[in-house]
Order: sequence, then structure tokens, then C-alpha cells
Amino acid sequence: MPKISQKGQRMPASPIRKLTPYADKAKVDGKKVYHLNIGQPDIETPEGMINAIKNIDFKVWAYTPSEGTLSYRKKLVEYYNKLGYNITTEDIIVTTGGSEAISIAMMACLDAGDEVIIPEPFYANYNGFASQTDIVVKPILSYIDNGFALPPISEFEKVITNKTKAIIICNPNNPTGYLYSQEEMDALKELALKYDLYIFSDEAYREFCYDGRTFISPMYLDGIDENVIVLDTVSKRYSACGARLGCIITKNKAVWTTSLKFAQARLSAGMVEQIAGSAAVDTPDSYFEAVNKEYTSRRNNLVNALNKMDGVYCPNPGGAFYVVAKLPIDNADKFCQWILEEFSYNNQTVMMAPATGFYSTTGAGYNEVRMAYVLKNEDLQNAMTCLEEALKVYPGRTIDNEQLAASK
Ligand SMILES: Cc1ncc(COP(=O)(O)O)c(C=O)c1O
Repeated sequence: MPKISQKGQRMPASPIRKLTPYADKAKVDGKKVYHLNIGQPDIETPEGMINAIKNIDFKVWAYTPSEGTLSYRKKLVEYYNKLGYNITTEDIIVTTGGSEAISIAMMACLDAGDEVIIPEPFYANYNGFASQTDIVVKPILSYIDNGFALPPISEFEKVITNKTKAIIICNPNNPTGYLYSQEEMDALKELALKYDLYIFSDEAYREFCYDGRTFISPMYLDGIDENVIVLDTVSKRYSACGARLGCIITKNKAVWTTSLKFAQARLSAGMVEQIAGSAAVDTPDSYFEAVNKEYTSRRNNLVNALNKMDGVYCPNPGGAFYVVAKLPIDNADKFCQWILEEFSYNNQTVMMAPATGFYSTTGAGYNEVRMAYVLKNEDLQNAMTCLEEALKVYPGRTIDNEQLAASK
């Protein structure tokens, strides 16, 4: 039999999806499973996007230009310049999802063996994209005890070598929900300039900032136009994950031109998607206001419920729709499998993502789980009741209730 490539063997499987067979089995056994494991929002896609597809009229379902249709890029310019990005249609390349934006940017900017620094825990698929391109990920730890704030710049400097080419930040963050402050962004800017590094700014969750806090893009910082590459997607912004539509934004002409060559090799993003994406730009503010209100309420309920449980700690994140919580457990992978396989409360259980999959450092996150608050408040409440009951009987619980009470 012909052999699988070394690269194929090294390619990591998705840590978010690996528990799916246990969830499927739980459902076959008649249990209701609350899915907090994956960032597929239940929020409705804006009507304008759906109507644009319904009203579509064309004779040929054609390729589009590799950089995206001019009409869609014009709409994107309208959207981004309202945010203050100050870009033109010549700064955008439309991609099939944020995923392709990440992999094209990596291919355009880094060679095999080059290093990218990423604060961890981080979006697990960065590992997959890095593996595809033979890029080395250098993780630096952020910690739950300070809400997963940006690690000190000295920690970045410790891992910088002559192979370091880029930093990836995801802001607001998946999996932690952390929203970077102006000071943190300024510090990253100084670092990028000092060591001549790219900043890959994954802004998939830009719209989801809470408590009146504002999102700071590196696009707002002066003097680093050549360093910044924004990676974006409509997936979360418009709850349109199936549209597979994203983009790269950069004012660095060499990066844009090089990215376009990779974009040409895959021909184009979808035509229908770009029509829907153009309509999406006209989504009224009231849509986002309602969505943010809903997510804020879910976050508050989830974080409150978690922090009321014995031995559980969950920071209150400023954005996105995820939390990472610390549980009194010996092993998050074991626990997340056990709760699906062996536990139920009123015939219900919960699927969560073990945080270990979001760290590169071995052992990190062993007692943490990521939860996406993509379910209605009532379902979240039921899921939290299940979790609380599960923690009472989990055989790998780490400390007893008296100790927990004392530590609270
Ligand atoms: C941080 C982050 N970046 C990128 C993506 C990829 O998004 P897309 O659906 O546009 O490929 C995701 C998807 O969950 C994400 O969480």
C-alpha cells in the first residue's frame, strides 16, 4: 500500500471534535447533550444576507477574481473604514473563510522552520495551519489567574530567535474571551517594530465586546502598517459559519502581492458567498446590539453559575463567546469523556472542550475546559446543573469539599 506523507502523519486532528463519537453514543443512549464544545452560534444570520441569496439571479455560476469581486471589496472597504481602518480595495484579498486567510498569510510570510509566537491557550487550528506549512509554533503561557492577560513582553523576548517572523494574536480571544487593552496592543507594536515581526491579527470575534469595552485593532496603531496582517471572517460576525467567507487585509504591498499568488492557485472564493457578504455589510446596528445583549446575558449567567460551584473558577472575559474555567479535576480530557460516557443528570449531559487542546505546552490546561455560550440561557442553566452534579461524583475530583470551602 502506498505510504501516507510524513506531513500527513504529523498533522494534528481537531481536539475540539475528538469527543464527538462519545457525544453521538450518549445521544443514541437517549441522553440530551448540551453542546458547549464548539463555536457554532445559534444566533440567526441577518435577514439581509439570506434575502440576498434568495433573490439571486444569474445564468452562470462563475469564478470570481482571485482577490475577490470588486463590488464585494468595495462593500468591505465601507465596513472597515467605518471602523477606522483606512483601507482601499487594493488592501484586501477575499478568502474562503478565516481559515484560508490564516493559511495563506502563513505561506506568504513564513518559510519552513520559521517560528511564530502565540500566547496560549490559542485557537487549536493554528497548530494545523502551522503544521501544513512546516512553521514552528512557539507558545508562551498566559494564565487563568489574571484572566489570560497578554504575557509580559519579556516572555516573548525569551523565545525570540533569528527564526522568529511573526506573532499571532486573536482578539477577543478564542478560547479565553480575553480582550486586549490599548496598553497591551501598544506593547505588541513596540515588540514587532523592535524585532521586525509580522503581527497576524485574528479578528474573528471583533464585534463581540462587552461591558462597554472597545476593541483595539493593530490597524489603529501608527507606524506598523508594514507589519500588520488582519485575518477576518464573516463566520461569527453574522453567525454565517457555513458561508466560508473571510479576508486578508494588509497595507504591506509585498505581502498582498504574494498572498494573491496563493489565492490565484486556488482560483477564487465563492461567488454566491460574496453576494451574501456584500449584503451583510448593510446589517443594521440593531442586529449587533441585540446579539451583544444576548451574549452578555449568557456570559453573565454562565460565569456566575460556574463561580458558584465548589472548587470552580472562571474569569469574566471581555469578549468573544467563550470562557475557560478551572475545575477541581485530575484530567480535563478524561473528565470531558467521562461526563459524556458515564454520567447523566435527568438524562442530560454536557459536551465541553478540554483546554489541553488549546495549549502546546505539555500538561498545561490539564484542569481547564473551554465552553462556548452558543446556547440559550435556559439550556446553559441546565448544562451548568449537569456540570455541578457531575463534579460532585466524578471519581477524579482533586480536592474535597472542606478544602474547597476553605479556599473560597
Ligand atoms: C479564532 C478563529 N479564527 C479563525 C476561525 C476560522 O473561521 P472560518 O469559519 O472563517 O474559517 C475560527 C473559527 O472558529 C476562530 O475561532
